[in-house]
Parts: sequence; C-alpha cells; structure tokens
Amino acid sequence: MFKINENYLKLPGSYLFSTIGKKVKAYEEANPDRKIIRLGIGDVTQPLAPAIIEAMHKAVDEMGVKETFHGYAPDLGYEFLRKAIAENDYKTRGVSLEWDEIFISDGAKSDSANIQEIFGADNKIAVCDPVYPVYVDSNAMAGRAGDYLADRECWSNVIYMPCVQENNFAPEFPQENPDIIYLCYPNNPTGSTLTKDELQKWVDYALKIGAVIIYDAAYEAYISEEEVPHTIYECDGAKACAIELRSFSKNAGFTGTRLAFTVVPKELKCGEVSLNALWARRHGTKFNGAPYIIQRAGEAVYSEAGKAQTKEQIAYYMNNAKVIREGLLSAGYRCSGGVNAPYIWMKTPDGLSSWEFFDVLLNEANVVGTPGAGFGPHGEGYFRLTAFGTYENTVEAIERIKKM
Ligand code: MLT
Repeated sequence: MFKINENYLKLPGSYLFSTIGKKVKAYEEANPDRKIIRLGIGDVTQPLAPAIIEAMHKAVDEMGVKETFHGYAPDLGYEFLRKAIAENDYKTRGVSLEWDEIFISDGAKSDSANIQEIFGADNKIAVCDPVYPVYVDSNAMAGRAGDYLADRECWSNVIYMPCVQENNFAPEFPQENPDIIYLCYPNNPTGSTLTKDELQKWVDYALKIGAVIIYDAAYEAYISEEEVPHTIYECDGAKACAIELRSFSKNAGFTGTRLAFTVVPKELKCGEVSLNALWARRHGTKFNGAPYIIQRAGEAVYSEAGKAQTKEQIAYYMNNAKVIREGLLSAGYRCSGGVNAPYIWMKTPDGLSSWEFFDVLLNEANVVGTPGAGFGPHGEGYFRLTAFGTYENTVEAIERIKKM
C-alpha cells in the first residue's frame, strides 16, 4: 500500500490567497451587482512595458523560423540574461557576481518554496512573524516545521521572530540559534525595511552562528530611501552566508509572465560542499528552463527603454501606496509601509481581528485586503493593502474605507 507524505496532513486549511479567493468568489456570486475592488494579493494591474512587448514579439518571430528556433532553454538560464542581471542588478551596486552564480527560474514563489530542498531535514528555521506563508508551508511539507499548534496558530519547530509596531516591525535575534533564517526586505507583508547597518548585523550574526540567510528581495525596485540596501550582498561577508531571491513579477509586471532568479554565491559553503553546485544539481534535475521568449522579455527590462518604462510603472504603484497611506492616516487609522514597498500594513480598528476586518471591509466597502493573521500569529490585529491596483480603483477603495 502506498503512503502519502503525511506532513501535508498537518497543513492548516488552504493556502492564504486561495482562501481569500474562495471567500471573494462566494461574495461576488451572492452579490453580482457590487463592484469589488481587489487590494488583496499583490498582483500587478499595469500592462507589460512596450520595450518588453517588443522583445517578446521579436522572440516569438524567432521561434517561427528554423534557423532561430529554440527548444529547451538551458536549465539554469540563458547566459544573456544571467549576464544582464549580474551587470545591471549587481555591478551597478558595487557587487561583483559571476553569471553562473545566478539561476533563472519561473518565479520567486517556486524558488522560495524549493530552496529548502538543499538543506538537511533537521535544520531549524527562523522566520519573521508575520511572514510570506510560502517559507513556512514549504518547510512544513518537508517535515522541518514540526507539528501545527492550532491553538497558537504556529508550528512547533519553527522559530518565530515577532515583527510588531513595538519593535518597528524589525526582527530581533532569536534566543535559540537557527540554521536557516528567512528575511524578506522590503518586507512582505509589513512594508518595513532594514538599513544597511541593520542588515549587516544579521549577516554578522549568521556568520557567527553558522546559519544561512535566505534573503527575499522581490520588492527591491520599490526602495526609495538612500540607506536601504538593494541586495544583501552590499553587506560585508554576505556571499559566504546568504542566498538571494529576486523576481521580475513586481519590478516589471511579470506576475502572469513568470520569471525570477536566485543567487547562490560560490563562496557559500557547508564545510567543503558548495551550495551553488547543490542548487545547480537540484535546478537542473527538476526544472527545464524558463522559456526563451520570456527570458528575452526579461533581458529587455534592462534595456534603456525597459529601465525607463518599468521605473514609471513603479512610480505609478508607489503613488497608489501614497494614496492608501495618506488616506488611511487622515481617516485616523494607524498604518505603516508604502514608502519603500508596495504594501501598507494597517492596524485593524476597534479591536477587530484580522479576519473580522476582512469581512467588514468586503461587506461594507466591497474592498478586498489580506488579513494579517494569515501571515502568522503576530499578524493578528493587522491588515495588508496592496498598491498594485489601478489608480482609479485605489482612490475609490480609500474613499469607501473612509466612509465606513
Ligand atoms: C503577495 O500578495 O504576498 C504576493 O503577491 C504573493 C506572491 O508573490 O506569491
């Protein structure tokens, strides 16, 4: 008789954004006349930039001609894209990476879920609380998270680092030493950031205790303040202790196009074993390469026109963030984020729980957000709104919330 991976049975409910999707669909079906504004999942609304579309058209045409047709992409990514990333995302920030330290994939969600596979089953993970649920769920599926403690809404074998208003949403070093530390900056969901000095302390800490940092920098393009680092490799010693995850979803609108990359420096070793080689082995075995057309589209993000056009899109979303933030503050809500990140993190009013506020907002304002509790126990009492909507919908959503 076959056996299943019983770790799956421990997972509570469905994935956060699936639960929200189901709730919203049910509401929509029951109230077909209502116009619902979605500021829940961080999904972009602006079309791909013209320079990207042009590159995709060109690549599509190449696929229709025998001489320029492409079959399987190289499993670790085309050299043209890996080099463009090293040049534009890193060299410009004073970070020197070799192109084969960069691995192309079809999304940061899968990378952040898959990266745990190269680590031992008995590693202890530490996560910020609240946190992007994929880090914890993927470790739970691998049996690394222990048991789910329903009454406390957390996992027995995970170190949670509370990020709340009192500590300015910045984690403190845990009492127990972790082996793997997940950090996401600019942060999803709180929209907070660490300065370079603060991040350096995490790098020093990881080096001291022999831990690895999985650094999710998917929202890097939204940084507006000078002292906020764009990559963990701006910190001394980070190449020996950190893996960085990046995405084209939020900086160039690829949520439906799918493209991302992971940086695993060759300096990063466990004893004599290179993590770069392990990830190459894993990626090469389980992934057949992101499509040629999409990688050409990714390359176009780094063209002069691509850079200018995506910068404009980011400014558009950050203007939405300002509308949300200032609108909520003027209506007397407490909120943060939205300055270096496309997320605004608000305190729920009147002591409502996150899910209670979700229901109130959906029923009374027909606005969808994300309950903070879905990101971890310390997200309870908070609520996330995304700046990725259209400007018109964002303005309307805030007007509706103000009237509530
Ligand atoms: C979010 O809303 O947190 C993200 O869009 C989800 C994701 O990137 O997978």
